[in-house]
Amino acid sequence: MNYHQAFAEELAAHLKGILDVHEIASLLEEPKYITHGDLAFPCFTLAKKLKKAPQQIAKDLSEKIAAPFLEKTMAEGPYVNGFLNKEIVSKQVIERINKEQESYSSLSLGNGKTITLDFSSPNIAKPFSMGHLRSTVIGNALANISEKCGYKAVRINHLGDWGTQFGKLITAYKHWGAEEKVRENPIKELFHLYVTFHEEAEKHPHLEDEARSWFKQLEFGNKEASQLWKWFREESLKEFAKIYDLLDITFDSYDGEAFYNDKMDAIVQELEDKELLTLSEGAEVVDLADANMPPCLIKKKDGATLYATRDLAAAIYRSKTYHFEKSFYIVGQEQRLHFEQLFLVLQKMGYDWAAELKHVPFGFILKDGKKMSTRKGKVVLLEDVIKEAIDLAYKNIEAKNPALENKEDVAKMVGVGAIIFHDVKNERQNNIEFNLETMLKFEGSTGLYVQYTHARACSILRKAPSENSLPDTGLADSHSWEIVKTLMDFPKIIEKSFHQAEPSVIAKYVLKLSQEFNKYYSHVKVLTDDTEQSSRLALVKSVTIVLEEGLRLLGIKAPKKL
Ligand code: ARG
Repeated sequence: MNYHQAFAEELAAHLKGILDVHEIASLLEEPKYITHGDLAFPCFTLAKKLKKAPQQIAKDLSEKIAAPFLEKTMAEGPYVNGFLNKEIVSKQVIERINKEQESYSSLSLGNGKTITLDFSSPNIAKPFSMGHLRSTVIGNALANISEKCGYKAVRINHLGDWGTQFGKLITAYKHWGAEEKVRENPIKELFHLYVTFHEEAEKHPHLEDEARSWFKQLEFGNKEASQLWKWFREESLKEFAKIYDLLDITFDSYDGEAFYNDKMDAIVQELEDKELLTLSEGAEVVDLADANMPPCLIKKKDGATLYATRDLAAAIYRSKTYHFEKSFYIVGQEQRLHFEQLFLVLQKMGYDWAAELKHVPFGFILKDGKKMSTRKGKVVLLEDVIKEAIDLAYKNIEAKNPALENKEDVAKMVGVGAIIFHDVKNERQNNIEFNLETMLKFEGSTGLYVQYTHARACSILRKAPSENSLPDTGLADSHSWEIVKTLMDFPKIIEKSFHQAEPSVIAKYVLKLSQEFNKYYSHVKVLTDDTEQSSRLALVKSVTIVLEEGLRLLGIKAPKKL
């Protein structure tokens, strides 16, 4: 059913000893114009080998090639253009999708090997930022896409649960904190304490010493410090869980920075043994001047380890624990240098798997053109933002379809879907403008548009005379063919989105399929009782299968009614 491959095989049969199937397959192109057919073989390589004019070769070859799946072949200048037989191919494609259902397009690129994905990774006692939202959404989509490609995905939430800020937090809590308040509203209150600390420390510098000393206590396992840390962590996690629940995202591991505390000495020792450490202003660093990068800080003057040190430990631990074949870090582009340094240090340590580590960066979320930040004390909780999207979705549904059942559930799928889709519809490196109203439009490039198209297709199926979803005939008309061709592209799309670590490839694809389907629907009467009815219904069913699966990969649900 891979016509690309089949066409290459047909050509290869006539080019024995000159070009093999693989070479031919890699040369095949998709013609720019529909009038040039579905597949094109450029004859330039052959022309060089045979010392003949490519036009002549194209002409000769096109006269020889014939196969049932091909309606015809034609020479167009130096190209052999293949026209698929719409009747046969459409029937095969529709049949296959209906048989395979959601496993249509599952690939075996990964062969069951493991990929770890480090994403979301918010910081304890701080608000879950828009950046963390992007990481969460993109990371989750990439995990789903990896699984679709045959990998075993390990989803890791590398929590920011260690560092000097905990000394500050404990200090602030001891001075101005109240247990009740923290319990009631952990993130808001803890962040407030953190902000207060900075304000007060400007007036009373001794607070900084106090904070340093508390962090030391924490590192040495002082009971009170450890208990407070543990409590802050638990309360924060409870808050983050609310967001993950709303987004319906789970993790295999919450091993954050603190998890690596007892693995630090060994790392520093290893760097020492491998003669990679140098002293710079009292701190221990790995010099990266040979790669034109600033040194990677491993240990501060006071002996404290750093973010980078913990990431070194994490990478080595993950390699030993998960034996990953690939390892993705879905983290904002502002940390580009950090990851370049990290990967280089691991390479210098002699780990060849360092070549399989990949930083997957993304742009900012903007509000009215400006970077959204948690300004001092003024915290916008992401949970509230998501809830607002759900409320707005509810209002939109109420206005359009007041009789809909399960409006709450559907509003959740739509509200959350809107946020996710808005995030992944553009290439991830782009900045995105956050605007709930535009995200939740029924028309345009929105998640709701795709969900609505899917529901519309489902409603046609509900009106069908029978459940049977296999086509009796092929569909040769141009409206159906446009859709069949797009359905056929799904495997290629998934592979591309995996290779580029780019969920937008799938988002753009489901938008395109939705647009094509709506066009189809405005031209064709699906439910007319004639010989092609079963095929049209099976085509509609195929569209619902692929839309639902495409959305699922992005982390979005597809309600059957909307
Ligand atoms: N907690 C970090 C932050 O909020 C992100 C961690 C990303 N993952 C990693 N392995 N460094 O900036």
